[in-house]
Amino acid sequence: FSDGPLAGKHVLVTSGPTHEPIDPVRYIANRSSGAQGTALAVALRDLGARVSFVTGPADVPPPEGVEVHAVQTAQQMLAAVEGALPADAAVMAAAVADWRVATASDSKMKKVGSGAVPALNFVENPDILRTVAQADQRPKLVVGFAAETDDVVAHATAKRARKGCDWIVANDVSPATGIMGGTENAVTLITGKGAETWPRLSKGETARRLAARIAEALE
Ligand code: C5P
Repeated sequence: FSDGPLAGKHVLVTSGPTHEPIDPVRYIANRSSGAQGTALAVALRDLGARVSFVTGPADVPPPEGVEVHAVQTAQQMLAAVEGALPADAAVMAAAVADWRVATASDSKMKKVGSGAVPALNFVENPDILRTVAQADQRPKLVVGFAAETDDVVAHATAKRARKGCDWIVANDVSPATGIMGGTENAVTLITGKGAETWPRLSKGETARRLAARIAEALE
């Protein structure tokens, strides 16, 4: 049906933040908009890939023409990702919450008065990227993202090794860049061969470049 360099290939994309419940009406989240992950899903689709798009509650709607798996929490995201394997490539652009509340309350937590405040205990969430990179059904190409505010290349290179992924797309999310929540991105692609810094581009153009590189790698 589709043509293009990724025709016949299945690519998994994670995107957006996760929401980790505190009680039925409250949650812990982060500022990820889902814009870069969504642009990637579009670019991969446009090159002919079958895209499984596993998304947390993002600001932008999911694209047409991809298989959408909408989730809230990191644990749900991991289950959806594992359910979508096998894939030829996996691109993990989601900003997964590192921690969740150990025991979310089943009922809304009430103010008890007299200034008393609740204490929240956290436990670590599963690392979805690392899990996929070590899975029996490991995709041929596993790509992670790294949002950094300093020493971008050094931190991202270390992250590539720690996670066991093939590439890291590192971006500088210092508040002054306006990248988080903005329409542009400035990335450095870390592969086994070293670091390549790309110019500041729209998130759409960044996605098209990355999708083209993924197509090349899967050839
Ligand atoms: O460790 P850090 O969160 O900086 O790593 C970022 C990369 O790891 C991103 O690709 C992100 O999607 C992925 N990740 C994940 N599961 C987590 C934490 C991060 O897949 N629990």
